[in-house]
Amino acid sequence: MTAPIIHDGPLIIGGGLAGLSAALEAGPRPTLVVTPMPLLQACSSAWAQGGVAAALGDDDSAALHAKDTALAGAGLVEPLATRTLTDDGRETVEWLAGLGAPFDRAQGGGFAVSLEAAHSRPRVARVGGDGAGRAILSALVAAVRAAPHVTVWEDGRLCGLIQDASGRVRGALIERSGGRRVQVLAASVVLATGGAGGLYAQTTTPAALLGEGLALAWLAGAEILDPEFVQFHPTAMDVGLDPMPLATEALRGEGARLIDRDGGFLLGPADDADLAPRDVVARAVHAARAKGRGAYLDARSAIGEAFPHEFPAVFAACMRAGLDPRETPIPVAAAAHYHMGGIAASPDGRTSLPGLFAVGECAATGVHGANRLASNSLLEAAAFGRRTGRAAAAEAGGLTPVLSIVSGATLEDADLQTLRHAMSDHVGVVRDAEGLARALAIITELEAHSAGALPLITARLIAQAALDRQESRGGHYRSDWPDLSAAPRHTRIRRAPAKLIA
Ligand code: SIN
Repeated sequence: MTAPIIHDGPLIIGGGLAGLSAALEAGPRPTLVVTPMPLLQACSSAWAQGGVAAALGDDDSAALHAKDTALAGAGLVEPLATRTLTDDGRETVEWLAGLGAPFDRAQGGGFAVSLEAAHSRPRVARVGGDGAGRAILSALVAAVRAAPHVTVWEDGRLCGLIQDASGRVRGALIERSGGRRVQVLAASVVLATGGAGGLYAQTTTPAALLGEGLALAWLAGAEILDPEFVQFHPTAMDVGLDPMPLATEALRGEGARLIDRDGGFLLGPADDADLAPRDVVARAVHAARAKGRGAYLDARSAIGEAFPHEFPAVFAACMRAGLDPRETPIPVAAAAHYHMGGIAASPDGRTSLPGLFAVGECAATGVHGANRLASNSLLEAAAFGRRTGRAAAAEAGGLTPVLSIVSGATLEDADLQTLRHAMSDHVGVVRDAEGLARALAIITELEAHSAGALPLITARLIAQAALDRQESRGGHYRSDWPDLSAAPRHTRIRRAPAKLIA
């Protein structure tokens, strides 16, 4: 191991929308961004099709947006954090547009907004129909590359967190190309490591996202909030690809319908039936497939010939799979899409550990509760990313002896595939005690020969909290506990002791 690198500013782990928003706002403090792959690759932000939710219309308001967010979140949305988020909405979209994000425009030049499920107003600012994530992130990447205060390592994998005697996080252990390990001591560490969709065999997220940032935060002693809440997207395209390409909810917003193989409506004939909350639609798709009826998204009459123009990313994915959605309904399945739970953090990214910040999907700020409202995640990543960048940049540097490094291992591919199937089969859309216990037993078996593997730690946190939550709420559905409990409760856990508190 070479001598530690001393970095007098924030060290940001992750190059998605949250990490890059933080990096831009951390200036003029020198800021180091570390990602395992070149920017724009292997982060969920670049794959987002929907857009950025914000109260932009004349008939909309931040208060109404907060109300819809709270309703979707099924009793577990934190009001203050949520109001901070929705109040930031317009300014965040304007900031992104100012950086060059080419949002669709309405006549007159304002932002064009569209409707998604469980929003009471059209409020999703989109780019090129279904290309929001890549277009917005491309604008940020250009801004980051031009920012003199930001340095980016595009070959660095996070493998440990460095702490001092008081538990304060003082830096990170990074593995660079060729297996070189470097200790980076920094004024603050920001985890923007994304979600954990890769823990599931059926996922819409990059397969490399295995919740490793969350696992390291847990090992370091940070509080973890509501890890059992995973959102399953109802219309992942079942065309033999891993990860599964997404067929954006906006297709249903434009009238595409969910049908079974006989053409029957999965959620009934009402025009807005398929725009029910995402967890309801995901369970309907899951049930139809489980009963052998199949599930398909039929865009033939609602979108038809406009498909290539209106939804170019989905159209290209369909055509790559040899399916023309103008002529054939798209086979769909429910797939892991977003982790609502994560490292407990405030809107400015502060975690329970001094020196450690978390933002984006790896964080849980309470704004998604048990069920995230569509397109709130890009807003959260950018808005709270900016806040986190400013807060992390305000932390003083200083030399402290390193006393401990928490680190973990990766998982062999065969074991990872076993884990992914166990998670999809037993910790998925519909859960019960027997299946969750089976998943935990499989994780225990895998731990026997892959001790300390970070994906196993996160998988265990999700499965154990799902077993402990004896109710159904939002994205967490227990067939053996199908009702809501009377009082909503968060799961808040630290490495020891673990407990469930109000
Ligand atoms: C979608 O476009 O359906 C996904 C949007 C989101 O997950 O927020």
